[in-house]
Amino acid sequence: MSYIWDMRFGPHLLDEILRRTDLVQLVGKRVKLTRKGRVMWGCCPFHQEKSPSFKVENERRTYKCFGCGAGGDAFKWMMETEGLSFPEAVERLASDAGVELPKWSAEDEAREEKKKSLYDVVEVACQFFEEQLRAKNGSEARDYLVSRGLNGEAAKQFRLGYAPDSNAALKDHLYAKSIPLDDMVAAGLVRPQDGDRPARDFFYNRVIFPIADTRGRIVAFGARALDPDAKPKYINTGETQLFSKGHLLYNFATARAAALKAQTIILAEGYMDVIALVRAGFDYAVAPLGTAFTEDQLHLLWRTAPEPILCFDGDEAGLRAGLRAAHLALAHLKPGFSLRFAFLPPGEDPDTLIKREGQPAMRKVLEAAEPLAKVLWRAETEGKDFSTPERRAGLERALGEIVSRISDQKIADYYRRDFDQKVFESFKRRAPAQQNYPPRDRQQDRRSGFPGGRRVPPRPGFAGGGETVSPAVKNSLLARSGRSGARGVKEVELSVILFRHPDLAVRHAEIVAELPLSDRILDRFRRELLNLAASGSRLENQGLEAHLVRHGMSDLVERLNARALASGEIAPADGMQGIEGAEDIEARWLRAASQLRDMAETGPERARAFERFKSEGTEESWRDAANLLPRHDE
Ligand code: UTP
Ligand code: MN
Repeated sequence: MSYIWDMRFGPHLLDEILRRTDLVQLVGKRVKLTRKGRVMWGCCPFHQEKSPSFKVENERRTYKCFGCGAGGDAFKWMMETEGLSFPEAVERLASDAGVELPKWSAEDEAREEKKKSLYDVVEVACQFFEEQLRAKNGSEARDYLVSRGLNGEAAKQFRLGYAPDSNAALKDHLYAKSIPLDDMVAAGLVRPQDGDRPARDFFYNRVIFPIADTRGRIVAFGARALDPDAKPKYINTGETQLFSKGHLLYNFATARAAALKAQTIILAEGYMDVIALVRAGFDYAVAPLGTAFTEDQLHLLWRTAPEPILCFDGDEAGLRAGLRAAHLALAHLKPGFSLRFAFLPPGEDPDTLIKREGQPAMRKVLEAAEPLAKVLWRAETEGKDFSTPERRAGLERALGEIVSRISDQKIADYYRRDFDQKVFESFKRRAPAQQNYPPRDRQQDRRSGFPGGRRVPPRPGFAGGGETVSPAVKNSLLARSGRSGARGVKEVELSVILFRHPDLAVRHAEIVAELPLSDRILDRFRRELLNLAASGSRLENQGLEAHLVRHGMSDLVERLNARALASGEIAPADGMQGIEGAEDIEARWLRAASQLRDMAETGPERARAFERFKSEGTEESWRDAANLLPRHDE
């Protein structure tokens, strides 16, 4: 498809459109920009920030964010902010800029003309169905909709209709409008003549759900039988020149704007679910069109939001469907883009849940949506018994296979580490504490994280290659999980956040410098971080990692990474965060810093107070000591 467009537009034409587009003005519609020299600056619309790191230059015809890396030209801007496809972005900007797009070839032209007339045919049919729902013999359908909680307003909003119980009601109606039978058939509205059987309406005695393309033009219909026992319950327009069911989503054209704004989009299973969700205020709800979720649909979702939420019934079948979608997504994951999964109580779909328990129950389900990695993990482990080495090895192989399907190497890496960590965590709890781990097969480890053979869980806290970690790091707080007391935990937490978000050290260099770090390695890490911060360059996690590695601290890097993963602290550059905004991280870090200061200050003082209480035994000395105890609400 895309090469046709490229040929049609050609590089010169695209340049021409970009030249005639005032990017600053275009971006300025969404972002408040301030001039600094030739460059305009503003707060990046693609991530949360307080101080501007997003620049737009008309001269270069590009925008770029130094915070999150988003950037591109006017076409990209339209695609990212309006959710348009590339051809759509070109068409929109060309028309704004007054650039005329070249005509198609005669053949293409004819096809386009044909399509244009088909859109009209489908639109006429849509209006016919809508009228029929309001007409006298639409009463049964109206009653049905009311029984499902949908009033006239809902019907109007979704352009619901009724196909009367007749062989030729629509056909006759279209005939009367001089629409040729061929067009009716091409639009999927009428079945062609078949032997003795004359051509007849495709839909009859069904409630009609019009399906729009990404631009909002009606291109097809879904139709539900009124009779609860009718088979099949739903039928849909077949593939036509206008409609390819794997490429579209129900309600996408309408949901798009809401999804872009909310930065989230919900995929439900059925039309009724979408309508119920939208009516309950979740405007950004869509559904596939009677087929399993496809890759194209995944990309449609990603055009509007980085982590679409897929809703499934909480029963066995729902979990299977969810898993199918999860596996489908693996090959397409890219930094910043993933999926989340919301499982409804068994036997419920969004429609029934909202009806039964109301909007808050649905909201709760959505808020509890699980990340892709977790769903994959659950699917491999839940309800399974890993009491034998063979079964554990089997699990690691299965996880290894999942990782191997991820084509983005960086993401594959994170998944590998995440699974490693989870395997370790869960087997640690089962295994006796004093278990002697046999020596690890380092050859195998280096080849792949999951040799699928006889690998054993790594030692506590060791992300990989345990033997290569230097004694200093091994003795550091980073390795002594759990045993280092509240203060040690706090020191590690602070360091891990700094490691993942080193820009904090630029903004809060003084606080970082004053942190009472008792751990030598963390102290060294802090010094290097401050050195880098002092050099005035923008600090990113990747840059810091590279710096530490260059200065012989790759052990530390590895350990910090493992810690970060274990605590769910994901680097902004990898974009998998999105749940916790930059501001929240900053606030959390500042709070932790002040807690650590408190701990360090009150630690020795508390020890002295307790000594006094022990020797004096007075109520006053007890109060003093008790006042210095850490509060539990911290
Ligand atoms: P469901 O059977 O879950 O339907 O199918 P639903 O939306 O809950 O239907 P109601 O609530 O009984 O009306 C989900 C989707 O699968 C497609 C339709 O797109 C439906 O919305 N489907 C289902 C079919 O295409 N054909 C069928 O026979 C059934
Ligand atoms: Mn349903």
